[in-house]
Amino acid sequence: MRFTLERPETWQVCTACGNEALETDPRPRCAHCGGLLEVQHRGPMLTREELLRRFTERRGGGGGGGGGGAAGTASGVWRFKEIVLPGAERVISHPEGNTPLLHRPAVDRWSGMHRLLLKHEGHNPTGSFKDRGMTVGVTQAIRVGARAVACASTGNTSASLAAYAAQAELPALVLVPAGNVALGKLAQTLAYGARTLLVRGDFDDCLRLVEEASARLGVYLLNSINPFRLEGQKTIVLELLEQLGWEAPDWIVLPAGNLGNTAAFGKALGEARAWGLIDRLPRLAAVQAAGAAPFALSFAEGFARRHRVKAETVATAIRIGDPASYDRAVRAIRETGGTVLSVSDEEILEAKAALDAAGVGCEPASAASVAGVRALVARRAIAPAERVVAVLTGHILKDPAVLLTYHRDTEPPPRGANRPMEIEPTLAEVERRLP
Ligand code: F0G
Repeated sequence: MRFTLERPETWQVCTACGNEALETDPRPRCAHCGGLLEVQHRGPMLTREELLRRFTERRGGGGGGGGGGAAGTASGVWRFKEIVLPGAERVISHPEGNTPLLHRPAVDRWSGMHRLLLKHEGHNPTGSFKDRGMTVGVTQAIRVGARAVACASTGNTSASLAAYAAQAELPALVLVPAGNVALGKLAQTLAYGARTLLVRGDFDDCLRLVEEASARLGVYLLNSINPFRLEGQKTIVLELLEQLGWEAPDWIVLPAGNLGNTAAFGKALGEARAWGLIDRLPRLAAVQAAGAAPFALSFAEGFARRHRVKAETVATAIRIGDPASYDRAVRAIRETGGTVLSVSDEEILEAKAALDAAGVGCEPASAASVAGVRALVARRAIAPAERVVAVLTGHILKDPAVLLTYHRDTEPPPRGANRPMEIEPTLAEVERRLP
């Protein structure tokens, strides 16, 4: 199908064959060729100044409890409604977003930057950036009349889906790789009440299975192949641009697994420039874990072919060997003149220890972005004086097991390990151990 005469405010288009679909078509892929879909907006009929005034006026506003109306203005997603999902009415919002942009001199020293800014998405309600996509995804599930929602996940998407589905009073089904989900994420998913299946396989198996199951069982699929999730995730970029006074930075650096976020960032930047919000594009740097780096392999060959690997990394959030949003992410890297690299698990854990010890804190996958910044500075791809924002995608408490192993149990103690010390209850013992 193609819209010929008048385009609606919002519609879906296949990124592979150009086939178009209605905004409310619930199918997760192109009905014609099975390609990935993208949401398109006609674009706001407002000047740049009018648009920016709306975004800022709504900041810190009330509402957003999911009650409905045009609420959601306390949300750092729905205050950008005109360029996220203009037609949404009853929004399911926690609220989410409005996360801080942090600066810590200790992290500058570790990474080699003069002033590295950290966009901390771990400050979202379920502790990861997934809430920004999920508020839009679950809102869309309601709009299309879904009876249940489903996803495959390495843990954060499932925690977020479980929370938003609970708020919307929709049954949720999640598939996660047995034995490879961080403790905090599994605990959240169970607590928020999703039906949780521990699949004896990896994330890539879970994703294949949930796509089949959702088609067969008529359940609305809320993995990041769902293009409405990416519309919500765009607001990470919109919000950080706003925090920089709409002066684009030189680089935005992010961890990359299934590549939904890389795709969302590319789309957000392209639209922000097309709609006059910024006048130049920052470059994207997508950072993978060395044991789960199919996208970095493809980039090194000029994207000549798509790689698939058997993934292994301590950063279980990005333990993904066959990323679903590959094509959309290639476009994001190409259009922003970006780069893709990989960092070792040791580098990830060292970056995490530096972020944690600076009082920032994040989960292992998030630290990949800062490990990536240091690697790019070391190879002179980024100059220390450039304006760089690294995105921290998840909260420190998502993965307590990795923390305790690193600080308490690893022999010999890694650099930055902070060993707990057990003592007798005497003042002398305390005094002897004063830091
Ligand atoms: N960081 C964290 C903390 C994540 O949970 C994820 C993905 C990523 C980075 C990578 O983002 O997949 O868009 O490239 N987590 C997914 C999940 C796969 O199921 O929670 P991506």
